[in-house]
Amino acid sequence: MTKPQLRIVEDDDDIRTQMKWALASDYEVALAGGRAEGIAVFTAVRPLATLLDLGLPPRPNDPDEGLATLSALLAADPLAKVIVVSGQGDRQNALRAVGSGAYDFLTKPVQVDELKLLLQRCVHVAELEQEYRAMLEEQRADVFEGMVGASAAMQSVFTVIRKVAPTSAPVLILGESGTGKEMVARALHRLSPQRNGPFTAINCNTIPENLLESELFGHEKGSFTGAHAQRKGHVESAAGGTLFLDEIGELPASVQVKLLRFLQEKKFQRVGGRQEIHSDARVIAATNANLQEAVTRGTFREDLYFRLAVVVVRVPSLKERASDVVVIAKEFLHRYGVEHGKNRLSFSTEAVRALHAHDWSGNVRELQNRVQRAVIMADGKRITADDLELSAAVTAGAAQTLKEARESLEREIVQDTLRRHGGKISSAAIELGISRPTLYELMEKLGIAKDSRD
Ligand SMILES: Nc1ncnc2c1ncn2[C@@H]1O[C@H](COP(=O)(O)OP(=O)(O)OP(=O)(O)O)[C@@H](O)[C@H]1O
Ligand SMILES: [Mg+2]
Repeated sequence: MTKPQLRIVEDDDDIRTQMKWALASDYEVALAGGRAEGIAVFTAVRPLATLLDLGLPPRPNDPDEGLATLSALLAADPLAKVIVVSGQGDRQNALRAVGSGAYDFLTKPVQVDELKLLLQRCVHVAELEQEYRAMLEEQRADVFEGMVGASAAMQSVFTVIRKVAPTSAPVLILGESGTGKEMVARALHRLSPQRNGPFTAINCNTIPENLLESELFGHEKGSFTGAHAQRKGHVESAAGGTLFLDEIGELPASVQVKLLRFLQEKKFQRVGGRQEIHSDARVIAATNANLQEAVTRGTFREDLYFRLAVVVVRVPSLKERASDVVVIAKEFLHRYGVEHGKNRLSFSTEAVRALHAHDWSGNVRELQNRVQRAVIMADGKRITADDLELSAAVTAGAAQTLKEARESLEREIVQDTLRRHGGKISSAAIELGISRPTLYELMEKLGIAKDSRD
């Protein structure tokens, strides 16, 4: 085991040597004689704890130099643990130092026992904080253009988006309902050279068939009953930007032909018009239907399919990215917590387990709705499985598969070990004979909340 790093900033040679002698067996001690040296040493090593004499040269009888050193150390690391050592009768300044962020103070002559005890406590707190910081770091969700996803499946979606966005190639986005297809389309637009142009979304399923052609391509005055004036369509108004055609599988055959021509030539005519109009709108299409099947059935043109599907982005269902469920849920919890003035809410261990166990056929949207409702319903500080309306889903289906049995045994062992180690990840990992990251992964998989100490 490596010893914790300790820095002593003290100008009195005798005191320094005494301290070093007393502490060398437990700490990796380095010495500094004044402010500049103290700061330099601190920045280089980031010690777990620093002992700081308040009376430093050039004015050893004045606490200003020590206090200035303290604030420099805290500016470099707001969580730095600094114990100030003050002269006798200088309690006032020692308290001032604590007021400005020092961890604690000692008065000279320093009692070795007292010093050791205080350092032990201080280092323990510093270690806990470091562990917590590392945990937060690991927990930090990978967010890409507003999409949360640390799973390999989502990371590869992000990679494709990064690559395709800068081109003007059409993109076909496939995925079940509520998986985030529109988010992908918006990300593609935001990262494209047309980002300052319009993003126009049309749902081909919600516009009546007879109006869709005119919605998309516009019409001339008098071209049909009700066409009182000339009107531009979305293909025209999305020029310089992106046209997002949602539920493309619902596009009627007549409009399919016209869209195909537009994709081939970037040109079209308004309904009832003869004039060729040019638009450089980039087309992104999406569907939750099986387009290839529609092609086989003959309801979707094959040539149009190939034009649209130059690049295909398949957004995985939430089931295919189980490891993202809790991360996304936490993101929604944060969002709705702020919105509803309940930002201290967290998920109970049981709720996390229920989130893992649920069959997310409604994908991200279902998850979003459940978390939003839970935030509104939650009474205490913790969101329960009940708040998420998930408890039934978990208790139902008593039959255990071998995998479930193994996981529940694993969960028990991990929870028990964590409990015995007071929630301390590193020591629990040692007892379990696995590395810390592996334990984190295991906890994630088993739905054990990382902040859980029960
Ligand atoms: N990875 C993600 N991170 C955070 N929020 C997400 C993510 N994916 C989707 N969402 C949210 O889930 C909801 C559904 O996403 P979106 O509308 O993009 O899905 P969709 O696939 O277009 O759904 P539909 O097929 O029903 O049109 C939205 O509120 C969106 O903000
Ligand atoms: Mg959508």
